[in-house]
Amino acid sequence: MSAQKPQILAIIGQGYVGLPLAMAAVDAGWSVIGVDNFATKVAQINAGLSPIEDISNAQLKAALSSGAYRATTEISDIAKASVITICVPTPLDEKHEPDLSLLRSAAIGIAPFVANETLVVSESTSYPGTLRDVIIPIINSAKPATSPTLYFASAPERVNPGDPVWNQKNTPRLVGAIDSESQSRALTFYESICDAVVPVSTPEVAEAAKLLENTFRLVNIALVLEFNQICSSAGINVHEVIDAASSKPYGYMPFRPGVGVGGHCIPVDPLYLTWWARKNGDQAKFVESADSISRQMPKYVAQRALGLVDSSIVNPKVLILGVAYKPGISDVRETPVSELRDHLLSLGASVAWHDPLVPTWESSQSVDLDWQCDVVILTIKQPGMNLEQIMASGVQILDCTNTMKGFAGVTPL
Ligand SMILES: NC(=O)c1ccc[n+]([C@@H]2O[C@H](COP(=O)([O-])OP(=O)(O)OC[C@H]3O[C@@H](n4cnc5c(N)ncnc54)[C@H](O)[C@@H]3O)[C@@H](O)[C@H]2O)c1
Repeated sequence: MSAQKPQILAIIGQGYVGLPLAMAAVDAGWSVIGVDNFATKVAQINAGLSPIEDISNAQLKAALSSGAYRATTEISDIAKASVITICVPTPLDEKHEPDLSLLRSAAIGIAPFVANETLVVSESTSYPGTLRDVIIPIINSAKPATSPTLYFASAPERVNPGDPVWNQKNTPRLVGAIDSESQSRALTFYESICDAVVPVSTPEVAEAAKLLENTFRLVNIALVLEFNQICSSAGINVHEVIDAASSKPYGYMPFRPGVGVGGHCIPVDPLYLTWWARKNGDQAKFVESADSISRQMPKYVAQRALGLVDSSIVNPKVLILGVAYKPGISDVRETPVSELRDHLLSLGASVAWHDPLVPTWESSQSVDLDWQCDVVILTIKQPGMNLEQIMASGVQILDCTNTMKGFAGVTPL
């Protein structure tokens, strides 16, 4: 079969997943239509201004000026594509359960325009069965009569924003399709973009593997968050313990404590797993416990920080350094710093924050480092953060990053 030689690829969603995929596909010779329903973002992208750190303006401008890429809000443009990938958010709802409304709306949007023999791939993270039981029925029920034959696969994206080593191209890609022709086309598509493709027998295996990967991270982080608290009350430096354990050449992998988990994946995806287990009459007790431990961590950090303040100060002023969920990026989605700030406020503190990569957050602005405070909490070490200035001020610092070891006035988490 010669299909899926670079032709026209349509990507639904031009965010942290969709835009890097677009650039990788352009590099591989595809003509790419980047569809996004957020008109401001589409205008920004078409003006050559990248909304994410992993894609530079220069790379975006080169793709635009080559004519091989453009962003659009016009969903009907997907009719020209031989491959459509869905890369829209899959968050949690107010009950902390899967919210597939954006995924459903993407499927509803593409259904009337999908051309015959098109391969439709979901890269969005979701519970097993999402492709087969949610996406495919929506598209099949509203596809044009002229498109009797469509191909479907799941290929969950594994990108790690801000990672200097692993990216869309060199991270092996899981591919699981609903039938052998879909699988063959999906493998050929991803082989044109990725260095390594890992076929699995069904979309459900691919979907479940993605949940396992991110749940693995959550439970290991939760373990080390709990272990941090136990070591800290015993007066033992947890990082020295982790370094010591890491000398074992097999059977151990280091995770480091911090304020908690954040971002669109680690706090979210394991709850797709717990929901899916409940739906099937099972219970993911271990994962629920890990989720509970990680969600309590910001409260523990708030208490530790206020414990460093002179008890005569009634309304301590706290400066939080870093509000993004991890260093090197501006992404504040699900940042545990939100909970940290809420706990500090509920304990009577005044709170300000500073983050060189995040100018505004939750209706407030990043303050200068000379903001007068009683204690500083270093949550993440962002590039461009002038920590010398903070240390020179002599203020107490709670270091959640293990990057200020040995400095006067610095207390490790
Ligand atoms: N961000 C990550 O690190 C990461 C890594 C691996 C997997 N994922 C998964 O990939 C998926 C996408 O995540 P993301 O981080 O790229 O999200 P994102 O918010 O950065 O981007 C998604 C884009 O989709 C657009 N969108 C939403 N609904 C749409 C619709 N119906 N039609 C067209 N555009 C629509 C939004 O405007 C947004 O620009 C999620 O399922 C996520 O869990 C994310």
